Amino acid sequence: MCGIVGAVAERNITAILLEGLKRLEYRGYDSAGVAVFSNNGTLERVRRNGKVAELEQALAGEPLVGRLGIAHTRWATHGAPCERNAHPHFSGSDLAVVHNGIIENHEALREQLKGLGYVFTSDTDTEVIAHLLQHKLKEQSDLTAALKSTVKELHGAYGLAVISAKQPDRLVAARSGSPLVIGLGLGENFLASDQLALRQVTDRFMYLEEGDIAEIRRDSVHIWDVNGQTVERETVQYRDGAEAADKGEYRHYMLKEIHEQPAVVQRTLENRLGHDHVLVQAFGPQAAELFAKVRNVQIVACGTSYHAGMVARYWLESLAGIPCQVEVASEFRYRKVVVQPDTLFVSISQSGETADTLAALRNAKELGFLGSLAICNVGISSLVRESDLTLLTQAGREIGVASTKAFTTQLVGLLLLTLSLGQVRGTLEAGVEAQLVEELRRLPTRLGEALAMDTTIEKVAELFADKHHTLFLGRGAQFPVAMEGALKLKEISYIHAEAYPAGELKHGPLALVDNDMPVVTVAPNNELLEKLKSNLQEVRARGGELVVFADEQANMSDGEGTHVINMPHINDVLAPILYTIPLQLLSYYVAVLKGTDVDQPRNLAKSVTVE
Ligand code: G6P
Repeated sequence: MCGIVGAVAERNITAILLEGLKRLEYRGYDSAGVAVFSNNGTLERVRRNGKVAELEQALAGEPLVGRLGIAHTRWATHGAPCERNAHPHFSGSDLAVVHNGIIENHEALREQLKGLGYVFTSDTDTEVIAHLLQHKLKEQSDLTAALKSTVKELHGAYGLAVISAKQPDRLVAARSGSPLVIGLGLGENFLASDQLALRQVTDRFMYLEEGDIAEIRRDSVHIWDVNGQTVERETVQYRDGAEAADKGEYRHYMLKEIHEQPAVVQRTLENRLGHDHVLVQAFGPQAAELFAKVRNVQIVACGTSYHAGMVARYWLESLAGIPCQVEVASEFRYRKVVVQPDTLFVSISQSGETADTLAALRNAKELGFLGSLAICNVGISSLVRESDLTLLTQAGREIGVASTKAFTTQLVGLLLLTLSLGQVRGTLEAGVEAQLVEELRRLPTRLGEALAMDTTIEKVAELFADKHHTLFLGRGAQFPVAMEGALKLKEISYIHAEAYPAGELKHGPLALVDNDMPVVTVAPNNELLEKLKSNLQEVRARGGELVVFADEQANMSDGEGTHVINMPHINDVLAPILYTIPLQLLSYYVAVLKGTDVDQPRNLAKSVTVE
C-alpha cells in the first residue's frame, strides 16, 4: 500500500525522505516520488515508476536540496502505475500533496474543479485534493485553515501531507481512515504513515487520531481534532531496538521471519501461561466476565489471517464446544448478517489496518455482538484501538509481504483464546488445558526442529520449479494449513496452487492430477491418517507426484513418485502450527529457484488499507 514520509528541518531532508521510503517498501508499491521546497525558493519534484532505487538514481543525477519536503510510495488504485500518476501531486507550482487512501467523490470534485479552470495532469483521485486546496487558499490564505476546509469536502479515506512554497515554514497533514504518525526531533519534525519510516531520525512519536489535522513546524506541532478543537496527543517513546529493519544473515526477510518463529511464539506465550492453565486476564481485565457469557464466536479476517481463523474454528468447536463461524472480511462487511445471541466478534489481523477487517469490526458494533476481540500484531493499530479486548501477538515487525511469523503467532493466540473460553465456561475436558499448556511450552523447541529440515525442503523444492499447477491436501484442521501453504506458493512463486480437503479430491480436482501436477499433503498422525493414505493412493494411481509431510510415527515412507518428509511428533491440536513451517519453507525455496521477488511479490501489498 501507499506510504508517506515528510520532514521539516534545518538540514537538507532529501536523504531522510528517501530512507523513509525505503523503509516503507515492504508495504508494496509501484511508483515513488519526492517534492522538496528547494533552497532557491521553489517546489521541485522527482517521480519515478518502479522501485525507490530508481527514484534514488534519478535524484543522484538531479539532486534536490531543501529543508521541507514530502515523499510517497504509490500503490495504484485510480489510474495506472506510471510517473504521471505518481505522487506528490501539484496544483500550480506552489502546492504539493501526497495521499494514502481513496477519495470516493473524486469524480464530482474533478468536474467541479475543471469548471473552475483547474487543469488535471493525472488520473488519480489525489489530484483533486491539490486543486481543491489551491481553490480554498483563494478564500483563506492560511494553509492549515484551507486544509481544514478542504477535508470537509472529501468523502472516503485519507492520510495526507501537504507543503506550500508560499508557506514553507510548515508541513500540514490530515488523517481520516489512513494512519499517520508525527516523529518528534530536536528542532526538526517529521511525518509518516508508519513510524518505521522514521526510526532512523527519532524514537519519539505522536499518533494522529481519526479526523485530526496537524500543523508541523520545525519547533512546534499543533493538532486539531475532528471537532476543530486544539488537542494534545500523547508522545510515545519507541524502545524496541531489537527490531531493526535489516535482514541480518538471511538472504530475504521472509526467510529471516520464518526462522524467527520459535522466538516469537515463545514471546507470544510469555506472561500468558500459568502453571497448568491459560491466564485469561491476558485478554484484558474484563475478559473473564465477557468470556463467561460467550455462546458463539464469529471470526472475521483477510488473507493469511483468515486461514488462522479457519484453524481456530476446529479448536473452538472440538476443544471448547463453542460454535464458530469464520468469514473473510470483504464478504462479511457487505452482507446481511444474522447474529446469534451472545456471539463474540473476533477479528484477526497482522497489521490491524486492513480496510475490510476494520470495516467489518465497525459494522459489527451495530449488529448486536456481545463484544469484540482483536488478535493483532500492532498495538497502536486502529483495530486494537477500536476493539473491546485485544490479544497482541508478539511477532515483531513483519516485512516480507507473504505473512509467516504473524500466522503462527496468531494461531498461538487463537489457541489461548480457545482454552480461555473453555476454562471460563467450564467446557474443556478434564486435563486438556494442563496438557496443552505443557505442549505449548514445548512448541518453540518443536518449531526449531521443523526449521532444521530446511535443507531437505530446499531439495524437494526442485520438483516444483518447472511446474505450473500444484494441489495441496489436508484433512480436519490441516485443511486450512493446506490453504495457507497454497497461498504462500501462489504469492511468492506465482505457481497456481489450490487447496482441497482431501476428502473432496474425488469430487473434481482428481481430474486435474497427472505427472505435471505435484500434490502436497500435510498428514499428521491422527484418526484421519488412514483415510488420507487412501486419498494419496488415488493421486499416485493417476501419476501425480506426491510430497507428504508426515508425522515420524505415521509409518509412511518414500516410494516411487512419493517423497515423504518426516516431521517431529507433536500433539494433534498443535500440529497445524508445526506443519505450517515446512510449507512456508517449501514456497520460499521454490520462489528462490524461480528467481521471483520473494519479499515484495508482484501486485501484492503488505497492508491493504483500501478496498
Ligand atoms: C494482505 C497481505 C497478506 C495478509 C492480508 C491481511 O493481503 O499481503 O499477507 O494476510 O493482507 O492482512 P492483515 O494485516 O489484516 O493480517
